[in-house]
Amino acid sequence: MSDTSGTVLVTGPNGGLGIGFVAQLLRSPYATSHETIYAVRDPEKALALKTVLKTAPKDHKHLVLPLDLTSLDNIRKFATDINQRVTAGSLPPIQALVLNAGVKDCTGDNFTKDGYEHTFAVNYLANFLLSLLLLESMDKQCGRIIYVGSTAAFITGGPNPSPFVSEQQKKAFITSTENMAKGIEEIPDPKGDANGVGERRYSLSKLLMNMWMYEFQRRLDADSKLSNIAVLGLDPGWTGGTDIARNSPAGAKFFFKNILNRVGYIISFIWSNPLIRTPSKTGADFLRVCFDRKAFGEYPKARYINGSELYHTPEEAGDEKQQKVLWEGSLKLAGIEGDDTVLDNWR
Ligand SMILES: NC(=O)c1ccc[n+]([C@@H]2O[C@H](COP(=O)([O-])OP(=O)(O)OC[C@H]3O[C@@H](n4cnc5c(N)ncnc54)[C@H](OP(=O)(O)O)[C@@H]3O)[C@@H](O)[C@H]2O)c1
Repeated sequence: MSDTSGTVLVTGPNGGLGIGFVAQLLRSPYATSHETIYAVRDPEKALALKTVLKTAPKDHKHLVLPLDLTSLDNIRKFATDINQRVTAGSLPPIQALVLNAGVKDCTGDNFTKDGYEHTFAVNYLANFLLSLLLLESMDKQCGRIIYVGSTAAFITGGPNPSPFVSEQQKKAFITSTENMAKGIEEIPDPKGDANGVGERRYSLSKLLMNMWMYEFQRRLDADSKLSNIAVLGLDPGWTGGTDIARNSPAGAKFFFKNILNRVGYIISFIWSNPLIRTPSKTGADFLRVCFDRKAFGEYPKARYINGSELYHTPEEAGDEKQQKVLWEGSLKLAGIEGDDTVLDNWR
């Protein structure tokens, strides 16, 4: 992996984890050796990002570009712009594509203009499409595509299995791609509690990313020109000080934004990789997953990293047949056609 040039492209850099990552990046040698694309919902409103960028070294080459992950059309326009810049040589190939932006919509049934359930669309389908479109701009020698996993994806087992999924629901959690895209549960909650539904949709979106990692990596490995590209997941545990609970009940929102960060800070003196973390710790973990060649090897493939330790994905993510079904269904939902992607075996 080249330490001397390349592009880092990060989505959601104005959010809690995003700022943790940007702050670590700006303190690292990669702030000046690499160019950075900050893809934000609205550059004018990205105030936290603007603030942290004031600490950037003078020669930190970067662009803040708009990207709305609720719109497939907008994702396509964004990817076309990046691909044109890389083709023209005005931007180096992408060495780290950090798919960090995400949402947990616990406010009821909200659908994107494309007709997909909000959390599914942003946390899963947008990443599926964006990474396929940007493959042509990835560094073919050592590019890494990194998504953010979650303990919430562990509906059984794992560090804190989801309390929002009933025993019955666990048996039919992954359903048809079309139904998941529409937010339709096979076994609905009789109480119809919007928060519970939102939490389950969030868990599902992260579980689907785990499944996507395996299928995507297999397809990349089979394509000789792309087989050095890695797909990796980073689980940030519970990272406080972020807005991920902005649509959750007031107590959860306050706890995530104001309490958890302090707890994370205190326990960082006791454990090096605790469940509860600060954006600063998670930002450093992100940077390692982007660039470290020792901890995860030169060419890590489909690895899931919990903070700073290699970990496993949820058991439910491991079914190869389901991974393939999900991939094929997602191609249709995202409208992938002909020469949209340079991946040979995308079909
Ligand atoms: N915090 C945790 O404990 C935790 C745990 C597991 C996983 N995660 C994951 O970590 C990632 C970052 O979350 P966070 O905790 O930092 O939450 P956050 O503070 O709410 O940040 C989320 C970021 O995503 C961006 N975003 C949301 N919807 C978008 C859209 N439609 N288009 C473009 N950008 C969009 C937001 O943009 P704006 O700045 O415009 O709002 C924000 O910058 C998410 O994928 C989340 O699921 C977090």
